[in-house]
Amino acid sequence: MSKSQNVWAEFFSDKICGGHRSSSEEFISKEAKEKLFHLDGGKTLLDFGCGAGELLVYYAPEYEKLIGVDFSASMLDEANRRIREKNYENVSLILADDKTVWKKLDSSFDRITAAGVFQYLTYQEIDKFIFNASNYLNEEGRIVLFDILDSRLYPLWKIGLFSQDPKPLYILRKVGFEFKTMVSASLKNRPRDILGYAHNPYKVEKIVNKQGFEMTCVQSMYYEYKYHAIIYRT
Ligand SMILES: C[S@@+](CC[C@H](N)C(=O)[O-])C[C@H]1O[C@@H](n2cnc3c(N)ncnc32)[C@H](O)[C@@H]1O
Repeated sequence: MSKSQNVWAEFFSDKICGGHRSSSEEFISKEAKEKLFHLDGGKTLLDFGCGAGELLVYYAPEYEKLIGVDFSASMLDEANRRIREKNYENVSLILADDKTVWKKLDSSFDRITAAGVFQYLTYQEIDKFIFNASNYLNEEGRIVLFDILDSRLYPLWKIGLFSQDPKPLYILRKVGFEFKTMVSASLKNRPRDILGYAHNPYKVEKIVNKQGFEMTCVQSMYYEYKYHAIIYRT
């Protein structure tokens, strides 16, 4: 595991929820509906970084076979609890990361997806992920990466420019706060932002094109500063 991944593995080692904007069933079910729309069918699905299974339980009735993968045992325990509660027998869970997961799979998938996970991978790791995923993707399959932090919008959101009434003093305070957080994080050798790294959609597209895929980029419905990447063979 790289140094940066060690940091994230440690960060998630005791977490039990995916950090959605709201954890109410009403909100998560709306998010899941949006995601199912972009997943657009298929019979088998790999949910990489499934976390506590908050979305996975909404995907389960729509697929014949699903595998959830995560490197956090506490998240997987929570996912397991949710799945058993709903009596879904078509879902399996695997404890693994983006490097180790591939050897643990014994079949390929119609859909490989991840929601709110790619911000914890570097561009180099994304490149390797797409390469490995392509070997486990069925002919007409899709890789659908949800909620990638947009490097063009996220900094603006963080300083409050998307708020209802962005007054100059409010923005100045936000900029000051962000600066202080950044300095303190680098002094403590911790990640600058617990939401991970923001990625430029054009750079992600270059990576996927290099691997022989096309990519369509769509704006996330529920997060102003995130986008989804829908990746398919040319
Ligand atoms: C923000 S949560 C999202 C969880 C879930 N996809 C959802 O939307 O509810 C990110 C998840 O990705 C997992 N994760 C991050 N990097 C990972 C990696 N390299 N390998 C496996 N899991 C990873 C974390 O443990 C965490 O459960």
